[in-house]
Amino acid sequence: MQVMGIDIGGSGIKGAPVDLEKGALAVPRQRTATPQPSTPQAVAEVVGRMVKGFDWQGPIGVTFPSVVQHGVTLSAANVDKAWIGAHAEELFRQATGLPVTVLNDADAAGMAEMRYGAGRGEKGVVLLLTFGTGIGSALFTDGVLVPNTELGHLEIGGRDAEDRAASSVRTEQDLSWKQWARRVNRVLEHLEMLFSPDLMILGGGISKDHARFFPYLKTRTRIVPAQLYNDAGIIGAALAATERVETA
Ligand code: BGC
Repeated sequence: MQVMGIDIGGSGIKGAPVDLEKGALAVPRQRTATPQPSTPQAVAEVVGRMVKGFDWQGPIGVTFPSVVQHGVTLSAANVDKAWIGAHAEELFRQATGLPVTVLNDADAAGMAEMRYGAGRGEKGVVLLLTFGTGIGSALFTDGVLVPNTELGHLEIGGRDAEDRAASSVRTEQDLSWKQWARRVNRVLEHLEMLFSPDLMILGGGISKDHARFFPYLKTRTRIVPAQLYNDAGIIGAALAATERVETA
């Protein structure tokens, strides 16, 4: 079965039809720069064009880098503030004329990793973190997602975890992998203390570079890199469209 997945981020919007038997993109993805300012209208237009470009007819899953409850985006850390309170699902439905499911980007990546990647068959408490512009989180217990955990905004030492240890901070502040890993480790140790996870999966843009910083991480919890790299969001979005996540 194929479902279209679209992954919206602060800098790019990526999408492709997904083969859900294989857990992989059915055809190469398309990428468009996120419009600036990233207003709901401007982003919805890009989504509409992308769906038309694939000549897609069928359900669509869309990720968004914010809290998403019942199709409504409730925060906007790294996107235009007009998204706060916007009915994202309805907006994308109108722009595409197709059924749309919207969910948090890290939750989508986590769902994909649990089904097809680093979390496959993992029981107990699994915490996936994505390191990119911000830090996203997805928390699972026996494979069931607790949506919208937003642990990147956990305050550590008086600042949001993502303001210290997002991947974007490493590049902006020109930190060495070792310096950055020390910050990541502090976040991981704090989360470990709060949630006692059985496994932590580190994903997002940095999953490919895991060999450069994993050796510096010192948690007692098992840590593994995500396996689906940049496609996790697209694949998870498609998966969510078939399994509609209930966000109570
Ligand atoms: C947002 C989250 C998102 C994460 C990764 C954070 O700033 O609040 O909703 O999952 O960035 O994009």
